[in-house]
Amino acid sequence: MKRVFITGIAGFIGFHLGLALKRRGDVVLGCDNFNAYYDPSLKKERARLLTLEGIPIFENDIVDKHAMEEAIENHKITHFVHLAAQAGVRYSLKHPESYVHSNLSGFVQILEALRRFPHIKLVYASSSSVYGLNAKTPFSETDPVDHPASFYGATKRAGELIAHAYHHIHGLACTGLRFFTVYGPWGRPDMAYFSFAKAILEEQPIAVYGEGKLLRDFTYIDDIVEGTLAAIDLEATNEIFNLGNHSPVPVMQLISDLEDLLGKKAILQFEPTPPGDVYATFADIAKSKKALGFAPKTSLKEGLKHFTEWYQSIAHI
Ligand SMILES: NC(=O)c1ccc[n+]([C@@H]2O[C@H](COP(=O)([O-])OP(=O)(O)OC[C@H]3O[C@@H](n4cnc5c(N)ncnc54)[C@H](O)[C@@H]3O)[C@@H](O)[C@H]2O)c1
Repeated sequence: MKRVFITGIAGFIGFHLGLALKRRGDVVLGCDNFNAYYDPSLKKERARLLTLEGIPIFENDIVDKHAMEEAIENHKITHFVHLAAQAGVRYSLKHPESYVHSNLSGFVQILEALRRFPHIKLVYASSSSVYGLNAKTPFSETDPVDHPASFYGATKRAGELIAHAYHHIHGLACTGLRFFTVYGPWGRPDMAYFSFAKAILEEQPIAVYGEGKLLRDFTYIDDIVEGTLAAIDLEATNEIFNLGNHSPVPVMQLISDLEDLLGKKAILQFEPTPPGDVYATFADIAKSKKALGFAPKTSLKEGLKHFTEWYQSIAHI
């Protein structure tokens, strides 16, 4: 049995991971600052459901490491999963300070806290955004990642480098997971699949970039949770893994799948691709398959079916 602390536990991935850990018998607790990057009522609702499952959550900003140190000590934590971050590529164009706060200062505070507990294994969220302007696909963990296309991607790559330094200097066991466009029930309203579904149902236009030809390696939340559980169990000392579907799909396909599932046509508004967005994401998962047994199983249509069913059932939130 593991005793796992999750930062950003009221977020999309944290919520699903917390439930999965609890289901398999691990002890889980976590923190979140419930910020208003997207509707905090969705975070509160996830937190309420986690609490009902016996998962304690306390409200805390990760830059305040003392509350986390206390929780680590009191609950005899053995594994730490760091998911709290300022996410979103486009928001980083206008709000770089929020990324510095959570993804840089916040991450350093977590590493500083963990220095006191050298037995704890850390798994932290990175992102496919670190591949930035790379043209070679699929993206492999061995590819150089020196050309971020967004400030968000730059902070995620910086996090990987900072984790590497803490491993090298202080011996912290760190595993970074590069998630690729994660989607599913209880997802993030700022992401395209979510805002498109809302707009289609409300008969509002949706902004489509790059003529809908941009490719995204959409990865279903249950597959991401499987890969993350395997990374927690692996207890690697210093590794980075891609967690993606290995099956990129044009955004136009996402829209037509949503139209089928929702039984309504989208109103398309074609716009130029904003700076920061890349043409394609595509994960090479050979390393994750070998070390983690990672084998994503969910097709986009199947995953979107679960998402749209959930979305249409939560009108009250
Ligand atoms: N969802 C994706 O497609 C995706 C893709 C690549 C990487 N990631 C990374 O995975 C992680 C989880 O993403 P998510 O989709 O669940 O996002 P999310 O925004 O739903 O979850 C993050 C949670 O962290 C909390 N948080 C943010 N800053 C905090 C701070 N300073 N202190 C305490 N809590 C804070 C937020 O309130 C939120 O509940 C993030 O690190 C993100 O960058 C996600």
